[in-house]
Amino acid sequence: MKAVFSLLLSSTLVSAGASVYKKRVTGEDLDTGHRWHVAGTDLGIPYVLENGSIGFLFGDTFGTQWPDDGIEWRSPVMLRSAVHPGEEDGIIFDSAAGVAGDGLAPEIMHNGHTGSDGAGATEYSVIPNDGISFPETGEQFVSYMSIQDWTAPWKTNYAGLARSTDGNTFTRLDTKWQNNPENTDPFQMWTLQRDGDYVYAFSVRSGRQPGPMMLQRVPWQKIADQSAYEGWGWNGTTWAWGREPSAILEGNFGEPSVRKLSGGTWAMVYLNLDTLSIVSRTAKGPDEVWSDEKVQVTFEEEPNLYGGFIHPWSTSEENDLHIMVSKWTRDDAGRSTAYHVSQYVGTL
Ligand SMILES: *[C@@H]1O[C@H](CO)[C@@H](O)[C@H](O)[C@H]1NC(C)=O
Ligand SMILES: *[C@@H]1O[C@H](CO)[C@@H](O)[C@H](O)[C@H]1NC(C)=O
Repeated sequence: MKAVFSLLLSSTLVSAGASVYKKRVTGEDLDTGHRWHVAGTDLGIPYVLENGSIGFLFGDTFGTQWPDDGIEWRSPVMLRSAVHPGEEDGIIFDSAAGVAGDGLAPEIMHNGHTGSDGAGATEYSVIPNDGISFPETGEQFVSYMSIQDWTAPWKTNYAGLARSTDGNTFTRLDTKWQNNPENTDPFQMWTLQRDGDYVYAFSVRSGRQPGPMMLQRVPWQKIADQSAYEGWGWNGTTWAWGREPSAILEGNFGEPSVRKLSGGTWAMVYLNLDTLSIVSRTAKGPDEVWSDEKVQVTFEEEPNLYGGFIHPWSTSEENDLHIMVSKWTRDDAGRSTAYHVSQYVGTL
């Protein structure tokens, strides 16, 4: 389980961001709990499925709203929705991967659950970082992290890809980027966005630690072939593809979320651990200059927030940025007091 924030609130924090709360989308009291036992959960990473609906990837998920009880623990879990997030009622889920109609939404790939990852590593849990689909082949891929230890800063075994041809069950591939013993490898949490022939992969260290953000790309048909990835690198004079990746940004990053929005704007959202705010940036392309951070949601608005995953149907129009924000709070005794995902709406 993810550690509670140990960071101090500094007086420099801004109190309100550009996004406003729209609704809580998960809970024991909501459809997600009643229909699919997705009661206590986090993340809700939205991506376009091969048939045009939206899949939402959740992390450690429980049948009650309290993770402390550990009831029906599974991850990743996927819910789906075809409703535009800008509708008055916001996001409404219509189905869960792996179950016909109602019933417990199962985890969509192998998870060691404090046991074996199936390939020799001890794994605490498997947490999704992003999803991508290819209409040409009907395939879907999920980028995930194999968690070795949740003690802050959490440590991954590796980041990997899992593949699905039916949209319900995913097979973890040998495509893996191993972490290093120092837990500083910058390819451990991946967000994926296709543009034309390429998939662009932005990645950072595990555990929400300070460090670089890296950019790589791969022809979409070769997404599972590690040798086909090329870095976006700086040689001291110029940036170019085909080099060792260089830091495109330095920061104290949570899990990144990047989407190319209709109209062509590239948007990036992540939790900035220095300011404890979810922030956005924009660029004209993945390898173009990224704008300064714009604060979307602050710690004062959503205590112990994380995530900030961009709904792919967002646009750069006013009040049309839709992001999924998680919250996990605990009382003095360490018992959870909230663990859920909300939809926020803002402007890039
Ligand atoms: C897309 O596929 C999923 C799962 O196969 C299904 O639940 C959903 O209704 C489909 N969406 C559309 C728009 O056909
Ligand atoms: C970087 O690459 C460019 C383009 O290939 C080249 O002109 C330049 O000399 C290189 N710079 C260094 C420091 O190697």
